[in-house]
Amino acid sequence: MLGVPSPFFRTIDSRNGAVCMMEGKERINFASYDYLGLSGHESVRAAAVEAATTWGVSANASRLVGGERPYHVDLERAIADAYGVDDAVAMVSGHATNVTTIGALLGPKDLILMDQLIHNSIAEGANLSGAARLTFPHNDFGWIDETLSRVRGRYERVLIVIEGLYSMDGDFPDLAEFVKIKRNHDAWLMVDEAHAFGVLGETGRGIAEMQGVDPRSVEIWMGTLSKTLASCGGYIAGSEALVTYLKFKAPGFVFSVGLSAPVAATAAAAVRAMLDEPERVARLHANGQRFREKAKDAGLDIGLTEGYAVTPVIIGDSPRAVVAADKLYEAGINALPIIFPAVPEQQARIRFFMTSDHTDEQIDDAVAKTAEIVHGLKDVDLFESLRS
Ligand SMILES: Cc1ncc(COP(=O)(O)O)c(C=O)c1O
Repeated sequence: MLGVPSPFFRTIDSRNGAVCMMEGKERINFASYDYLGLSGHESVRAAAVEAATTWGVSANASRLVGGERPYHVDLERAIADAYGVDDAVAMVSGHATNVTTIGALLGPKDLILMDQLIHNSIAEGANLSGAARLTFPHNDFGWIDETLSRVRGRYERVLIVIEGLYSMDGDFPDLAEFVKIKRNHDAWLMVDEAHAFGVLGETGRGIAEMQGVDPRSVEIWMGTLSKTLASCGGYIAGSEALVTYLKFKAPGFVFSVGLSAPVAATAAAAVRAMLDEPERVARLHANGQRFREKAKDAGLDIGLTEGYAVTPVIIGDSPRAVVAADKLYEAGINALPIIFPAVPEQQARIRFFMTSDHTDEQIDDAVAKTAEIVHGLKDVDLFESLRS
């Protein structure tokens, strides 16, 4: 209706990194989760090729019945060691990892408390579990404390779920406060680090490293292989008992194929590259801060972002966000509009994912163009031509 082509499912004809080729033109790309640029890293790509050559390109069976493979064990060890916890289990999809883990751990006598900005996969898992569900105001641990003081006795187990870095807003919780409250109320804490692993902390180990919290004080660490780790899949890290339970009880693991060798080996090599090259994490931090400060100076509404991997530019209504993103695309910048129902109406935004590979010039160019477009659209009646 607005004469704007759909921003979704556009073809990318190159690696999806800090720059990409689209419709024959090189674009500066802010729509990739390749936070540390590891998708193009030499040793990471070499690990995929070597694994495919050695093991073939599919696991060809569920792990429970098909037998353990060294490349799964290697990946899970690397993840558990990076967190400093007992063990980890990797599954074929990040989304399915959340759904099946929460669905397998909680039941109708339990309660799940989720942040209001929590990812869809957590909410789906909570629905599946049959547990009672409450969403709490964003990052409001005081609300949980007060609520559990009243209702804790009605439930057997209580799970609190938060994200290490929020995927739409780019901010993070106060982890130590959540740990304190879950201890006081005998609850479990689950932290989804899809956007925090590789991003927060000096060596990318996530929010526990950044905030100096003992990783063993969180029962369930969750993350994806699809972002910093440049692969595909999800993981749960925690105690040996948790991991063993999931390996026998989570349907998304038991009744699903194991990760293929190239996929697992890629993620394991990416964990090593992340730890071996902390300068990538430092560059990502510098880029995120630069984008945030420049955008603030340009008068853009960047919401709650702390300026790490994700910074939204909040525009308001969905049509305006789509038009702004299209103009940005035409100006050589690829950043996607996030519209209702992914975010509440009037909170539509363009979301910028940072990578360690972006240059200062690319960031400055993107902010300048975004500011010009967004400010220029402020008082424009987008529907005028439709009415006349
Ligand atoms: C917070 C969060 N959790 C889980 C997922 C699912 O991960 P995947 O895309 O690897 O399936 C996502 C996806 O973007 C996410 O943002």
